Amino acid sequence: MQHVALLYGSQTGTAQEVAERIARDARRQRLFTNATTTLTLASMDEYDFIHRLPEASCAVFVCATTGQGTNPDSMRRFWRFLCRRALPADCLARLRFAVLGLGDSSYVKFNFAAKKLHRRLVQLGAQPLLDVALADDQDAYGVDSTLEQWLTSLWPLIEKIAPKPPNVDVVPPFVLPPSRAATIFLNRETRQLDPSLNSPSAPALLHLQQQRSYYETASDEAILRLAENALQTTDRASERATGGISVTVRENARLTAAGHFQDVRSIVFDTQEQSTLPDYTPGDVLYLQPHNTPENAELVADMMGWSLDDTFVAVPSGMDHGSPFISNLPRPCSVRDLLTKYLDIASVPRRYFFEVLSYFAMDIRERDKLREFASMEGQEERYSYCNRVRRTSVETLRDFPSVHRQVPFAYLFELFAPIRPRAFSLSSSQAAHARSLHICMAVVNYKTKLSEPRRGLCSNWAAELPPQTTLLLSLGRGTMTLPEDPRTPIVMIGPGTGVAPFRSFVTHRVSTNAPGRNLLFFGSRNAAGDFLYRDEWQSLVAAGKIELFTAFSRDQDAKYYVQHRMLEEDASAAIWSALSDGGVIYISGSAQQMPQDVRAALQQIVVAQTGQSEADAEAYLAQLERVNRLQVETWS
Ligand SMILES: Cc1cc2nc3c(=O)[nH]c(=O)nc-3n(C[C@H](O)[C@H](O)[C@H](O)COP(=O)(O)OP(=O)(O)OC[C@H]3O[C@@H](n4cnc5c(N)ncnc54)[C@H](O)[C@@H]3O)c2cc1C
Ligand SMILES: Cc1cc2nc3c(=O)[nH]c(=O)nc-3n(C[C@H](O)[C@H](O)[C@H](O)COP(=O)(O)O)c2cc1C
Repeated sequence: MQHVALLYGSQTGTAQEVAERIARDARRQRLFTNATTTLTLASMDEYDFIHRLPEASCAVFVCATTGQGTNPDSMRRFWRFLCRRALPADCLARLRFAVLGLGDSSYVKFNFAAKKLHRRLVQLGAQPLLDVALADDQDAYGVDSTLEQWLTSLWPLIEKIAPKPPNVDVVPPFVLPPSRAATIFLNRETRQLDPSLNSPSAPALLHLQQQRSYYETASDEAILRLAENALQTTDRASERATGGISVTVRENARLTAAGHFQDVRSIVFDTQEQSTLPDYTPGDVLYLQPHNTPENAELVADMMGWSLDDTFVAVPSGMDHGSPFISNLPRPCSVRDLLTKYLDIASVPRRYFFEVLSYFAMDIRERDKLREFASMEGQEERYSYCNRVRRTSVETLRDFPSVHRQVPFAYLFELFAPIRPRAFSLSSSQAAHARSLHICMAVVNYKTKLSEPRRGLCSNWAAELPPQTTLLLSLGRGTMTLPEDPRTPIVMIGPGTGVAPFRSFVTHRVSTNAPGRNLLFFGSRNAAGDFLYRDEWQSLVAAGKIELFTAFSRDQDAKYYVQHRMLEEDASAAIWSALSDGGVIYISGSAQQMPQDVRAALQQIVVAQTGQSEADAEAYLAQLERVNRLQVETWS
């Protein structure tokens, strides 16, 4: 029996989604459909790597990078295992493999986890089928362009290892791919499962019938049995998965001046009881699970012909080895909850969204357009239509009226990804705020060529949370940590909301009487409009607890940012003296241009203070980074 492993390392779900898509493509290619080859799709840590990997004939890895070049949580155990010194150098000699990295080139350690994984597998004797492929969030077309090319090269190589059975053709493109989920609605009166409810439209039914001659899908009876079992269990795992800490909003206040262009908010959550708040340390992050607006949920339900108050049970349809997301939905779940709390209907649609919709378009021009958007050749068009202007899935659905009321309900899980939780640096410290969690959040609103302003999902949802709202959230490790020795000087460079974790650092150091120097560089547009936590910083300066350096970019004619402030004589001297005393430097905030500019300023300071060459100064900074004396937390 041949065994092929399709393994992902994912922090926020993208790598898992890409792996699921590869599995779907493999099924369409009719790979691994014979009795002698099995395909396992799992996270690297879920996979029984100790016993199965050395025996696998082929492994395909999809590997994200998180933090500042760190491995995602779902491959930590696997990576520790691979790094064991005791592993013989040829222990994976049987294995052929390919790695697809998912990363973002605005981070210094671009696709670090994937590159390390590829190197380590080679060291252990495994044979690469292809060079490591590096997808980049900064790529205008997203993961798609790298993925499609990579798969085009990969499939023929895999077919040589695990040949298709003879006389089996690739599934023709007119056949609708199966949905991962099967759904059954409950009768409104009896509250019993009723498979006859919400049955697909006649054209959709034809597609589903045709699909059965190409794919093995679970029978209607098997689905009903699964749904009955699911209904009997009272598993609320989905709520646990999104975070176990129950909190109440105590404060949700604007920090920026009333007329200022941007709304930046201080949100304070109180835990119900002190005992329910797990220990956290400065530098940690809080995850919020946002909701879609009720208007968007209503729009989708309306266009698709579903009633928000209806309830259903979703079970894995047998494809993709069961998606945890589907298994973890409440049972039953209302259409309203699904469209409000679980499915991401407000982000820019993915390529597959267009492909799925194309099967249900009743109008031939709409169908052709959807097919074009779904094709590799049409990616430029798709980019202009939705990515460039940040058109949402809801708006896209509105543009294709002939699909309305045509899409079977279970295909919602194909159209939309789950809503991702968003991270926010904690701006509080447990030493000072025993029962509360604070964040400093910028509300994301911007204009594109579309007439409606674009609104970030989570920040707009959170901005509207009234005091006393109860919700669940979770905490996680960030990438920055305070030095163990409280005497160590720290230099914090945090323009905009990048200052949030430094409020946590400073509060912690002040309330624990840490004697080390605290240098804070803050930057924003203007002192009157968006000097975040101004009063707090100023009283800390007056008390001699921090040294504050500010840069307000629009308070004078020329633009003036934190990196410029760092190069002023007093600031450079202070930074250098902190560094000379073993200090740690932190950079936090937008991942766009700021981290590079700040790093370049640091390099200039080292050159000016030591007379070293630029290359030596860069080597010095790289060394600081290696020993955690230069730490960065940025987001795009
Ligand atoms: C470790 C970490 C810590 C973080 N800490 C904080 C914090 O302390 N405070 C904070 O406010 N945020 C923080 N963030 C960012 C936060 O997680 C969210 O990404 C942010 O709030 C936006 O989420 P949203 O759902 O409102 O927007 P989304 O709906 O996710 O939309 C955001 C997307 O819109 C696009 N976009 C945004 N602005 C523009 C523009 N002007 N033009 C074109 N496209 C644009 C970008 O593609 C962006 O990715 C942090 C992120 C990470 C990873
Ligand atoms: C907090 C955070 C840190 C990241 N750090 C890096 C990094 O150091 N290097 C990199 O190449 N990409 C980095 N990325 C980009 C992710 O690897 C990329 O968005 C990937 O598609 C995420 O996949 P996932 O959703 O499966 O975790 C980071 C993304 C986030 C949100």
